[in-house]
Amino acid sequence: MDLRFDGRVALVSGGAQGIGRAIAIAFREAGARVHLVDRDSRIKEEGCDLGLPAHVVDLTDRDASAGLVQSVVEQEGRLDILALAAGGLAGLAGLPLEGVTDENWDRIMGANVKSALWLSQAAAPFMTKAGWGRIVIVSSGAGLRPSLTGLYGYTASKHAVIGLTKQLSVGLARHGVTVNSVAGLHPVEPGCPAAVGWMEPGAESPGPVRRQHRSLGPTRRHRKCHTVSR
Ligand SMILES: NC(=O)c1ccc[n+]([C@@H]2O[C@H](COP(=O)([O-])OP(=O)(O)OC[C@H]3O[C@@H](n4cnc5c(N)ncnc54)[C@H](O)[C@@H]3O)[C@@H](O)[C@H]2O)c1
Repeated sequence: MDLRFDGRVALVSGGAQGIGRAIAIAFREAGARVHLVDRDSRIKEEGCDLGLPAHVVDLTDRDASAGLVQSVVEQEGRLDILALAAGGLAGLAGLPLEGVTDENWDRIMGANVKSALWLSQAAAPFMTKAGWGRIVIVSSGAGLRPSLTGLYGYTASKHAVIGLTKQLSVGLARHGVTVNSVAGLHPVEPGCPAAVGWMEPGAESPGPVRRQHRSLGPTRRHRKCHTVSR
């Protein structure tokens, strides 16, 4: 499939590494003008390496997310595509049920759900006014079923991401804006840091899951970040 996005402007969240970075490269190669955003300041170096404008924003902050969208539109004159990969385990791999607190629950829900909500909310008026927009939110297999991470907050947040995707899709479809979610399996390669730290069935602690994934993946091959991004 040869999809082209010439003339389109894409904002890719979680672009400092892993799947977000691979998505940004794929959009750039397909002709889009791409902006990167991450809360990790390393996004600036990635932006330089990739030749893409990069923004350091914590996307759990609604006002900061709205400011970012405004600034991209001011620079580019439009915003056509949101590709939202920010999120992940929020540093909580291996957290047992009794370890769930207000703070770490809010952290993982914020990283996965609010980060998608606030950017979508801010971008929707520009997309609906243009009559065209594409929003793709990276959820997870953990949004469809229990997770190998063993993480309660992660699984709940990814189910919420899929619910958010469905509601946004209904709300925005009549304006020419489609909203979809990718619920992929893990890429397992160096450079996808979240690929380590997942739970083997029956394991006491997180560890590599290569053997597990050989049996789970339909292709019986380890996936790479760029495979998931396409
Ligand atoms: N890697 C996997 O095995 C896997 C599997 C299924 C789904 N996913 C999902 O895919 C997405 C990307 O995964 P990845 O492996 O590339 O993760 P990653 O941890 O490598 O990258 C996630 C990025 O999101 C950024 N981020 C987190 N919270 C943020 C916030 N509040 N504001 C701005 N940026 C924030 C991080 O700084 C990081 O750069 C995540 O949503 C993850 O849950 C990953």
